[in-house]
Amino acid sequence: MRIGVLASGSGTNLQAILDADLPVVVVVADRRRAGALDRAEQAGVTTAVVDRSEYLPDRLAFTEAVVDALGDHDVDLVAMAGFMTILEKPIFDAFEGRVLNTHPSLLPAFRGAHAVEDALEAGVRVTGCTIHVAIPEVDAGPILAQEAVDIRDGDTAESIHERIKEVERRLYPEVLARVVADGDVRVGERNRDRRAGSGGS
Ligand code: GAR
Repeated sequence: MRIGVLASGSGTNLQAILDADLPVVVVVADRRRAGALDRAEQAGVTTAVVDRSEYLPDRLAFTEAVVDALGDHDVDLVAMAGFMTILEKPIFDAFEGRVLNTHPSLLPAFRGAHAVEDALEAGVRVTGCTIHVAIPEVDAGPILAQEAVDIRDGDTAESIHERIKEVERRLYPEVLARVVADGDVRVGERNRDRRAGSGGS
């Protein structure tokens, strides 16, 4: 299995994925100054930049360029790791059921680009992270794994996000390793097994 990672930021999740020796063949960033690009280069992994500022406001053309960059490297599993541009339908057609994402909340709570700030603002005492199959609807799609993170007195969005990222850096590589070992995301099959185990209802 050949993984393409999509990243925008510092790339600490990408680093965890690389450290887990997962078969990453390309890292695609949506901006030139993503720290993830440096991490990929350090690890000897090919990088590509599809600069979103050059496509604004055309997200469809941007998405097609991302699909092309992944296709150039025969990717068969896409892992979004802090990718901050919304992608359109072409990527979900090209890699149906094979685009994964990590999101810093317990979905379906707190979708969107400000999940940690929104959880803090809402006053919840528990948030967390979700690894899921991405679909065209943002921060939706079958959930593969979740883990809770407490919100403590005196926390800031930064301190919560750092604790969430510690969990993501363990959980995301674990999920990806499982998918690589299975050779497929196998969400449907797991759900069928679960239903069968509970009497099929
Ligand atoms: C992670 O917490 C990830 O869940 C979040 O960006 C961070 C990336 O950190 N993604 C989103 O918010 C997507 N909507 P990193 O650059 O250190 O891996």
